[in-house]
Amino acid sequence: MTAGVLDGKKVASGIREGVAKKTAELKARGVTPGLTVILVGGDPASKVYVGQKEKACREAGFNSVLLEMPGTATQEELVEAIARLNAAPSVHGILVQLPLPGQIDPDSVIAAIDPAKDVDGFHPVNVGHLVAGIPCMVPCTPLGIIRMLETYAIPMAGRHAVIVGRSAIVGKPMAHLLLAKDCTVTICHSRTPDLASFTRQADILVAAVGRPKMITADMVKPGAVVVDVGINRLETGLVGDVDFEAVREVAGWITPVPGGVGPLTIAMLLENTLTAAIRDRL
Ligand code: GUN
Repeated sequence: MTAGVLDGKKVASGIREGVAKKTAELKARGVTPGLTVILVGGDPASKVYVGQKEKACREAGFNSVLLEMPGTATQEELVEAIARLNAAPSVHGILVQLPLPGQIDPDSVIAAIDPAKDVDGFHPVNVGHLVAGIPCMVPCTPLGIIRMLETYAIPMAGRHAVIVGRSAIVGKPMAHLLLAKDCTVTICHSRTPDLASFTRQADILVAAVGRPKMITADMVKPGAVVVDVGINRLETGLVGDVDFEAVREVAGWITPVPGGVGPLTIAMLLENTLTAAIRDRL
């Protein structure tokens, strides 16, 4: 049997409609959600992502500002820019697009953002709150994945979730969110021996490693839910971390690339920014 396709584009479009509706209500009360994205240097992939975020913000009715800084900018200049945005009442969300040029320490930059405006959920205060189970800004990609699983009524409690990848952006927050949904959680990474022996146990398999088609059909338990976070740009186009065509013959549910997790990341960025703007109003 062929797996059902988890349509991230459709779920994201529903979320974005909801955000636009709430934004209109908020605007009628005199508050326009504002997101400022800081882009340092001209990395082509980052420019594409930032452009998508700006477009989504405008469509939702937000105030969207792009602050472009040259690739030669210093850490002090970036931290100063963040301090100004922290103090600006019209700015509810601040996102510093990663990766940053080598002369800048990303951890210091993230720590300079007001945690209440940290719509990426990367600030150590938000990371700590997530781990402690305290409501906070949650990283957009893992939050979007949970929303998609909920939308498709995929059971999580008691299921074995195996995450391949331990990044601060996806793997680690994903583990905490799935744990909060009562999954049994395993995190695998580049030093995990016999990876397939773990992935074959997964009822829910999340691939977030950045290696094209590394999850093959023999690594997947029949009927499993397979979530592909990979965005690998090959000459032949975009491919995920999962060998989609082969794995869809084994899995129960699968996300495509593109059109799976990617659109949800942007939708959750809008939701996080709206949340920050509403909280500001309270
Ligand atoms: N670069 C790639 N993904 C992300 C993300 O989710 N947030 C930021 N700030 N930069 C990124």
